[in-house]
Amino acid sequence: EEQEIRLSFQRLGIIPDPRILIPSLKEMECYDDDIFICAYPKCGTHWVWEMCQMIIKGKAEYHSKAKESCMMEFHLPEEYKDIPRPRIFNTHFTPVCLPKQAVEKKSKFILLHRNPKDIVTSLYHHMVKTKFNMDSTTTWSQFLQYILHNDREVSSNWFFYNKRWTEFTSSNDLDVLVMNYEDLKIDTVSCLSKLANFIGYPRDEKMLKEIKEKCSLNKMKDAEKERDSGTTAVNSEQVSDLYRKGVVGDWKNQFTVAENEQFDAHLKENMNGENLNFKYEI
Ligand code: A3P
Repeated sequence: EEQEIRLSFQRLGIIPDPRILIPSLKEMECYDDDIFICAYPKCGTHWVWEMCQMIIKGKAEYHSKAKESCMMEFHLPEEYKDIPRPRIFNTHFTPVCLPKQAVEKKSKFILLHRNPKDIVTSLYHHMVKTKFNMDSTTTWSQFLQYILHNDREVSSNWFFYNKRWTEFTSSNDLDVLVMNYEDLKIDTVSCLSKLANFIGYPRDEKMLKEIKEKCSLNKMKDAEKERDSGTTAVNSEQVSDLYRKGVVGDWKNQFTVAENEQFDAHLKENMNGENLNFKYEI
């Protein structure tokens, strides 16, 4: 599995070289106050990262360094040396690529989920925009069929991703909080409170409300543009890929009735009776 992930990252030309990155990540030193936000792409990873860093800071203020909010996929462990603890990492990796010490040292795992129809919709728009791993002429229906039938591409298969995390959480004694995008939208403040308690920085309601406000989609979008108009690696094109509509149920604008039925059948068949209680609308 690790080999396949490395190969698919190599094919995408992702830097740093995955042959070096993954083995060094696995051996990375961890602490019990490290926080790993683990999610399949497009579940709201960057949103939760920003919330966590504000909770820790005790102020509804954006972080100044994009490097620290970036994904583990893009940085060698030595780049995290100067980051003050507690460190907050984002990743789309399956557990096999993550630091072994994260389990041993009882680091904190935040597992973030989102209903798969909105994930696929969001992913499609992301890929069209960035032309990432996709021919620009790829249509939505071609993309959907690819998603439903690509069991080989382990690193990009949502079913595979969930299966691996379910196995990992049930076979390890982890410090873990499971959250989902829809609940974050429905009741942001109570989710923020759960997050704050879990990471060991309980905050009062006034502060949580300020964080909610500061982390609204539009404010984050504007802040990111401003932050990255300077010298960071993230360009304004990429910024707008991280923040799109930010709603629950956009899949209804994307799926045809037949595609929706096909997707439901595929889910039923491939989830092996696992939790199917996703919220598809709110
Ligand atoms: P959409 O494409 O459906 O709008 P990730 O950070 O994991 O790549 O997730 C990106 C998704 O989260 C995008 O979904 C994006 O718009 C949404 N998102 C990002 N920040 C958000 C925020 N502050 N509030 C709500 N949704 C947000």
